[in-house]
Order: sequence, then structure tokens, then C-alpha cells
Amino acid sequence: MENNTDLISKARLLLKKLSEPFVGRDEEALVITLALITGEHAVLIGEPGTAKSALVRRAADLIQARFFKYLLTKFTEPSELFGPLDIGALRKGEYRRVTRGKLPEAEIAFLDEIFNSNSAVLNSLLSILQERVLYDGYTEIKVPLWSLISATNNIPDEPELEALYDRLLFRHYVKPVKDDQWDQLLDAAWEIEKGAYSKVEPVMNMNDIKALNELIFKVDLSGIRRQLLRLFMVLEEKGMHLTDRRKGKSLKAIAAHAILHGRMKATEDDLLVIKYIAPRDLEDFEKIDVILMEEIKTKDRILRELREIEANVKNFERLVESAREFDTRLIEYSKNLRRARSRIEVLTRNVEDEEIKNLAEQIIDNIERVLLLINYKLNL
Ligand SMILES: Nc1ncnc2c1ncn2[C@@H]1O[C@H](COP(=O)(O)OP(=O)(O)OP(=O)(O)O)[C@@H](O)[C@H]1O
Ligand SMILES: [Mg+2]
Repeated sequence: MENNTDLISKARLLLKKLSEPFVGRDEEALVITLALITGEHAVLIGEPGTAKSALVRRAADLIQARFFKYLLTKFTEPSELFGPLDIGALRKGEYRRVTRGKLPEAEIAFLDEIFNSNSAVLNSLLSILQERVLYDGYTEIKVPLWSLISATNNIPDEPELEALYDRLLFRHYVKPVKDDQWDQLLDAAWEIEKGAYSKVEPVMNMNDIKALNELIFKVDLSGIRRQLLRLFMVLEEKGMHLTDRRKGKSLKAIAAHAILHGRMKATEDDLLVIKYIAPRDLEDFEKIDVILMEEIKTKDRILRELREIEANVKNFERLVESAREFDTRLIEYSKNLRRARSRIEVLTRNVEDEEIKNLAEQIIDNIERVLLLINYKLNL
């Protein structure tokens, strides 16, 4: 049995290698990796040409497993996914499929344009995804499917596809790269076209993935449980309803995120994975960042905002120092500083991190000092 550190390094290596050829595809690599560790399914949604398929192809190269890849169209027949009927068996009155190399034998499946599923394939797909069983005519086959990763240009609006969409626990909207990265994109795509990444050594196999999956259930989740419940409430209030299936599976995702960060105890930062579980409609993918920003005070975010406030306070300090007595602008500065002080209080309420507490204290001391100076200059 391999030790946990080795396993975690492999998972981190997969994460790193997955996004390596691409510009700005770290989150997408994270979503795929989370799906694999949790044994869940994922969908990447986005406009054409955003490297969705390329990422998924790379994942297949980086993992040693039995794969099945297919591009679905509205006309895809069940036999294309599940294998053709066994004619010999049929003559003897047995209804059986030849499943070799098809979805029923795959451990990891990549289905492009999954919402093209027509009713002939949809029901079989639903039971494969949920129960890992293929019900097919008179037969029932247990399938080894671990994760299905899919890609699509559009979120389905047909009600019959709703059940399929809900089975894809991780959902991520892939945005085209921003204008300040177009330059990098040219270089990255050049390397890809040149074939610089065509030779890929696998970094892990199915055993590793399953061992990582077992680790999930050893993660201490006690510290984030109450906050997660609160987050569900907030999301519900903001009109982002998670089905019970998604709520129930979110702990697994949080634990997987902790593991990927080398922790066996989940922290507030791990709650950020809800970003990939809660959104349903297009606008949800926009809204979720704002909600999580407000609700999850991750250490990095608080520190970042505190440092911004610190810089602002220093600025005011200089302005106040150079201001003349009774300068009316001092009243405005004083208001701003008080506002900054309340913001720090809100930001650090219930926060126990020493680094944050020290920085907050230091800035507040500074604010008090500048406020005193203002009062002095205003002769108050
Ligand atoms: N962020 C990126 N960084 C580097 N190359 C990229 C990036 N986005 C796209 N490309 C290049 O564009 C190619 C096309 O991407 P791909 O076929 O994977 O897109 P897609 O999202 O699957 O599109 P579709 O929705 O049409 O199937 C990639 O193989 C890659 O060469
Ligand atoms: Mg594609």
C-alpha cells in the first residue's frame, strides 16, 4: 500500500499536467481531477474552441484506465455506445450486446455533446450514471464506470434532459481566455499544434484513483459542516436550488478538494468547490462567484482586502499629514477612515487566524492614530 503523500503528489501532478499546455485552464483541470477523485461525473460547458475536448483528451493520456470516448449526435444509436447486438446469441433467443471497447466496459468515459442524447440512449445512460448498471431489454449488466466527463456548448432546456444534467455533479462554465492573455494563447496553441505535448506519460492509474477516493472518507469535515449548511440556505434564498443529490454529494467534493491541497482536515477554502456544484442556469455561473466571495471568507481573500485597506489608510495618512489646519477635506478623510475601520471589523468578525488578526489590529491602530491627528488639525 502506497503512502498518502505519494498518492496526493500524483493527484497534484495530474492537476498540473492537465492544464499545462493551455492558457487559463486551471479551474477546468481542477474540475476534472475532482470528478476523478470523487468518482463523480462532470460537464464542461462553453463556446466552441475553448479547449474542452483537448483537456479531456489530455486527461485520457495522463491516466491509465479503460476509456471510452464518443461524440454524440441526435442520431446516435444505442449500439454505438453500448455495443451491437450479438446476432449469434439472438438466434438462440438471447438478447445480448457485444460490449467490448464500448461504454459498458469503460472505467472512464468522455462523451462530447452529451445533451444530444436521444430518448433511445438517454434511459440507459441515466442508469449507467447513477447505478452503474445497464438495463437493456431483458439483460442487466453491472458496469465498471467510475467517472464520466462530458462537454457541451449549451445547457439543456428540455425537461427530459434534466435528470441527465443533475447526474453531472461538477459543472463548469469555460470562458474564452481574456484579452490580456491572447498573446500567451498564440504561443501555447503554437506549441500544441507543433505536437509538443503529443507524447504523454501517464501519471496515475485506476488503483491510484480508487485509493485517493478512499482517502476522502478519512478527511475531517467537522469544521466546515455548519458553514456548509448555512451556505445551502443562502444559495436557496438567492434562487440557486441544489437538488438533494447535489447537497448530499457536496461533502465528498469538499473532502477531495482538501486532499488535493494536502490536508486531511477541511477548511473554509474547501467550500469553494460549491462553485462547481451549485450553478444550474447560465446566469448562476456568473452569480456564484459573488455569492461565495461574500459568504466564504477565505484567508487569502481577507488578507488581500486588508492589504488594500492598509494601502488606502497609508494614503490618507499622507494626505492628513500634509493638510493645513481646518482644511475641510479632513472631514471627508475622517469619514473614509471610519468606513475602513467598520469594514475591517466586518471582515474579521469570528476570524481566528493570527496573521489576519495581527494585520487587522495594526491597521486599526493606524486608523485611530490618523483620526486623532485629524481631530487635532480640526481643533476638535
Ligand atoms: N486556452 C487555450 N490554451 C491553448 N490552446 C487553446 C486554448 N483554447 C483553445 N485552444 C486550442 O484550440 C484547440 C481547439 O480546442 P477544442 O477542440 O478542445 O475546443 P472545444 O472547446 O472542445 O470546442 P467544441 O465545443 O467546438 O468541441 C485546442 O486543441 C487548442 O489547440
Ligand atoms: Mg469539443
